[in-house]
Amino acid sequence: MPATDRRRGPTYGRKFTLTRRALILAAPCLLLPAATRALAPTPTTGDGPFYPSRLPADIDSDLVKIEGAVREAGGDILSLAGTVLDGKGQPIAGARVEIWQCDVNGVYLESGSYGGRRDSGFQGFGHAIADAEGRFRFRTIVPVPYTGRTPHIHVKVLKGGREVLTSQLYRTGFPQNASDFLFRRLSAAEQARVSMVLTPTTETKRPTFETEVTLVVDG
Ligand SMILES: [Fe+2]
Repeated sequence: MPATDRRRGPTYGRKFTLTRRALILAAPCLLLPAATRALAPTPTTGDGPFYPSRLPADIDSDLVKIEGAVREAGGDILSLAGTVLDGKGQPIAGARVEIWQCDVNGVYLESGSYGGRRDSGFQGFGHAIADAEGRFRFRTIVPVPYTGRTPHIHVKVLKGGREVLTSQLYRTGFPQNASDFLFRRLSAAEQARVSMVLTPTTETKRPTFETEVTLVVDG
């Protein structure tokens, strides 16, 4: 038991004296476990024009390989791992995470007037279900630029069938980021929350990178 100074409250050794006022002021921090502190939400965007109006037959989490296809998608491989959390830092188990992006030629499944030669080996859209810890993983390609945009991967999170987050993930330090009409609107802190650091791996013969993201759903 600490010694007690009747005027100033309990004392802990010589250096620390906890007055009643100090305890009251500190109480909110002392009582709040780390997991309940608010996390900054992932910045949101709209779907954009290229969310598939009709989903492809294969919508699994491996966008590089279409079921039944002879060859895999072109481009560098990206292992995209992540975690879905709510604003208090709690995992959202069972969340449906969707991604969609253009192929190595800069063409979306839904490209319409952008046309170009589409890579028939690229799935273009995929989904994963977050596990009990909110974790998910995709195998896709490193995003490339297309007309008017810096490279990005669109991402959407659904909880219980309800959309709770739509955003875009960018390549850290890509030269076109600074002039991109969406990326440049974000503050530096927001940009950091949607930027992917790509780390090369030696897993396969093809150029392969990995990255880890955290998606924080507001509220
Ligand atoms: Fe896009």
